[in-house]
Amino acid sequence: KKTAILISGRGSNMGALISAALNKDYPAEIALVVSNVPGAKGLERVAEFGIKTAVIDHKAFAGDREGFEKALHAELLDNNIELVALAGFMRLLTPFFVNAWSGRLINIHPALLPAFKGLATHERALEEGVKLHGATVHFVSAEMDDGPIIIQGAVPVLDTDTAETLGARVLGVEHAIYPKALELVASGKAKITGGRVKSGGSEN
Ligand code: GRF
Repeated sequence: KKTAILISGRGSNMGALISAALNKDYPAEIALVVSNVPGAKGLERVAEFGIKTAVIDHKAFAGDREGFEKALHAELLDNNIELVALAGFMRLLTPFFVNAWSGRLINIHPALLPAFKGLATHERALEEGVKLHGATVHFVSAEMDDGPIIIQGAVPVLDTDTAETLGARVLGVEHAIYPKALELVASGKAKITGGRVKSGGSEN
């Protein structure tokens, strides 16, 4: 399946997906990386793999969210994209885009959803004193950090943790579960049935 990855920043999850897709048996081909941020660090990592990149700067659309999304949508269609993976993509998507890509749009979130939606997940996990934290890959719905869960990976929270050390532990899990989730979706094994994904998975 021809897959696009959408990024806004460093792109380490994108890197994990690109690495996994180098395997010829992997069911997704990373055909395009789009950033909404010109000069995003992640873009530099893509060139060496010969993957096409595009920048669609949301600021050029001056608050017109749907205009931005229409440009994004057109870029995906121009490249015959079939699946979209958000990887540190820091824009909320409207129902226009989410519905257009329903069942073909996935995201990774650095928490065990439905806990800790939104930003600063590691800080909040420490404040709440949870003993397990982790990451979730899910199909995207119109609500932020919501939608049928494909895979979750858990890590312990240690007494000595800071947001940085906990975040680094979670990031390791992200890099392990995102390629597995994309594999499940691209091969058609993970599908939404009755609002849930029946053949997803868990780590740990
Ligand atoms: C990751 O923690 C991801 O879960 C979150 O943003 C971060 C992006 O990191 N949505 P990277 O750009 O993939 O390195």
